[in-house]
Amino acid sequence: MTPLSPEARANVHLIDHPLVQHKLTLMRNKTASTNSFRRLLNELSSLMAYEVTRDMATQDVEIETPLEKMTGTAIDGKKLVFVSILRAGNGILDGVLSVVPGARVGHIGLYRDPATLQAVEYYFKMPKNMEERDIIVVDPMLATGNSAAAAVTRLKVCKPKSIKFLCLLTAPEGIEAMHKAHPDVPIYTAAIDRELNDHGYILPGLGDAGDRIFGTQ
Ligand code: URA
Repeated sequence: MTPLSPEARANVHLIDHPLVQHKLTLMRNKTASTNSFRRLLNELSSLMAYEVTRDMATQDVEIETPLEKMTGTAIDGKKLVFVSILRAGNGILDGVLSVVPGARVGHIGLYRDPATLQAVEYYFKMPKNMEERDIIVVDPMLATGNSAAAAVTRLKVCKPKSIKFLCLLTAPEGIEAMHKAHPDVPIYTAAIDRELNDHGYILPGLGDAGDRIFGTQ
């Protein structure tokens, strides 16, 4: 296991619910078809949405049951923006939106310039009034952390109220990189895997998430 500092580890919320771990294991299996991989990712994303929205602001609402008046609890889903890091982040959207259907959605596309190795933005589309919103950035894999950190840096320009990062799998290298660049951004994940290989893939991992979601291998 690549070492992980206690400070960086403290920034990670590990979602170890048995249902999440069961579905993740099914997804990791190389025999899972594109169809089942995508379905499991949907299910897992909605389960993880419960954890990542646990401290979401609520307000009192006055309603009437068939028997009497009462004060209920409501969220303002529209204040939440799920930002997908293209393209694999899109695989998480359906699941999280099934739980918070009123949320807004943003997309960010980044590629690595082979000469400078810097992340270059090729797409950026967000809802209006980002300074009033809470952002949850979604991407299945936090591997080197380079694109996640670059996406968060770009999103901070919009001055949102808060930013969280939601993924399926992390590697210690990616957690450290995110903590170094953005110690204020908590990471929600279903697993901390062992290490990255020489190509930046997570071990044991689940392979290329985008290819497995979209069947492009
Ligand atoms: N991206 C993936 O899709 N898989 C990895 O293991 C690392 C990055």
